[in-house]
Amino acid sequence: MSLDMIHVYQEGKNPAAPTLVLLHGTGGNEHDLLGLGAMISPDSALLSVRGKVLENGMPRFFRRLAEGVFDEEDLVLRTGELHAFLDAAAAEYGLDRSNMVAVGYSNGANIAASLIFHEQESFRGAALHHPMVPRRGLQLPALGGMPVFIGAGANDRICPPHETEELTELLRGAGAEVEVHWENYGHQLTGTEARAAAEWFKRTF
Ligand code: MLT
Repeated sequence: MSLDMIHVYQEGKNPAAPTLVLLHGTGGNEHDLLGLGAMISPDSALLSVRGKVLENGMPRFFRRLAEGVFDEEDLVLRTGELHAFLDAAAAEYGLDRSNMVAVGYSNGANIAASLIFHEQESFRGAALHHPMVPRRGLQLPALGGMPVFIGAGANDRICPPHETEELTELLRGAGAEVEVHWENYGHQLTGTEARAAAEWFKRTF
């Protein structure tokens, strides 16, 4: 296994706190969510990853055929790559692989959701900001009470409310404990949404 994804690793103050795996949105990079991560859990190690796919020069975690239409073959391949990277990073940095919490925005939330859909050992929990349903028609692994925070916008045209509702039902159906935070805005990740994620984290871990 190799550390073949561009990333930033910041050691945490408390080794027992979950490592936050930070996953940016389309056109972002591994620096974007460091501030959000530090706000959600100031004592956690941060592992922030850059997506390997480029769309007109913009980093993403998997290809899409059009806005909101995912390239499923690439999604599955990239999900496996991220999974292998997290295993390798845990070994390299001496992290507990079973104590990682994903924090993703938009495309980064979608690859985090895809990892949860595809892998039995994905994350201990996840904060998904403006996610969509990554794939349909899959049998999800048993999620055994996995805590999931979803931040959504009632006026989000990229990740519309029906996607949030369907994703919530699919995750709950597999046993996840899902908390949904609604904002009256669009696709942006607002300060109040970030604070709600931080409160959820404090209550939960
Ligand atoms: C995606 O392609 O993952 C979603 O449309 C969100 C985004 O624009 O990144």
